[in-house]
Amino acid sequence: MDGDLSDMSIQVAVNGYGTIGKRVADAVTLQPDMELIGVAKTRPNHEAELAIDKGYPLYAAIEERIELFDDAGLELAGTVDELVAAADVVVDACPSGIGAENKSLYEEHDTPALYQGGEDADLVDTSFNARGNFADAIGADHVRVVSCNTTGLSRLLAPLEEEYGVEKARVTLVRRGGDPAQSGRGPINDILPNPVSLPSHHGPDVNTIFPELAIDTLGLKVPATLMHTHSVNVTLEASPDADAVADLLDEQARTFLIPESSDIDGAGALKEFSMDRGRPRGDIWENCIWRESVSMEGSDLYLFQAIHQESDVVPENVDAIRAVSGAADSETSIERTNETMAIGF
Ligand SMILES: NC(=O)c1ccc[n+]([C@@H]2O[C@H](COP(=O)([O-])OP(=O)(O)OC[C@H]3O[C@@H](n4cnc5c(N)ncnc54)[C@H](OP(=O)(O)O)[C@@H]3O)[C@@H](O)[C@H]2O)c1
Repeated sequence: MDGDLSDMSIQVAVNGYGTIGKRVADAVTLQPDMELIGVAKTRPNHEAELAIDKGYPLYAAIEERIELFDDAGLELAGTVDELVAAADVVVDACPSGIGAENKSLYEEHDTPALYQGGEDADLVDTSFNARGNFADAIGADHVRVVSCNTTGLSRLLAPLEEEYGVEKARVTLVRRGGDPAQSGRGPINDILPNPVSLPSHHGPDVNTIFPELAIDTLGLKVPATLMHTHSVNVTLEASPDADAVADLLDEQARTFLIPESSDIDGAGALKEFSMDRGRPRGDIWENCIWRESVSMEGSDLYLFQAIHQESDVVPENVDAIRAVSGAADSETSIERTNETMAIGF
């Protein structure tokens, strides 16, 4: 595999230009070894206008709706069929379940496809997290970049498993009810065990990345939109002191250890921190772990982490593009993505 990525140009299409798709599209344009050849949408709206404003060729995801774009004065470059035909890799960022419907389109054109965490794991050859199992996706045709929560857990558990061994992980996920623009989601005045049955699906999802890892998860939904929060307990196969664990997590490229001195007490302050530093859309690509929460009781590790659901999967999609293209190994890709996106506070 080539370590020099500068002379490659992977032609990337993004089908589904919403919360995840528009962020992935922007991240692709930062990669010297990739070219964004277009994005597809079903209808004209402010996001379709954004694509045009950014100079991204816009394609119609549904042929019968071409007229709507014409009526709105938005110039189309063609249909999604043409876009997929021209692409080396397509990133499907459509709503949950639509990715599965699109699979035959990608197969028709023999175009490798990435799907998102809302799709079932059995749709694809492998699920993906760059830190966890990059190599499994090399040369694969259908790859699922796992959900925001599973991405956050995989990044945390990978170094713990490698350094100390994980006997058992137990995580309670306090999940945001919806993204800020999802005005129809809730709860708006409640705290819901969700799913009520235990364990939640998140543990099995982590097992799509680490099949042998023992993990139980519980989920809740709360009236918040900014981030998820994980309350984590991991029984390790060793008893390191808390500082050693915090240092290990701090060394990881996609984890941010929130210093006590920063006075960041929650997701609101984290978003403010990110916006103050000029992050696009106030995105936080890293797991945010409160350093003073990292505690050891014997071999039991405890900590709190916050996960920005709208953006933590974005660098993972960029790495997955390189993996399916066979364009780089894990280390080279992750380093390049981190550098181009300026990951790390
Ligand atoms: N948001 C999150 O927090 C988050 C985090 C991690 C993973 N995910 C996963 O990422 C995927 C996308 O989620 P999202 O939050 O980005 O959804 P989203 O904001 O609703 O964006 C999806 C976009 O796809 C477009 N679309 C709908 N049907 C389409 C079709 N047939 N062809 C092409 N485009 C179509 C929609 O726009 P138009 O209909 O207007 O064209 C919409 O803007 C899901 O699998 C989700 O589970 C989401």
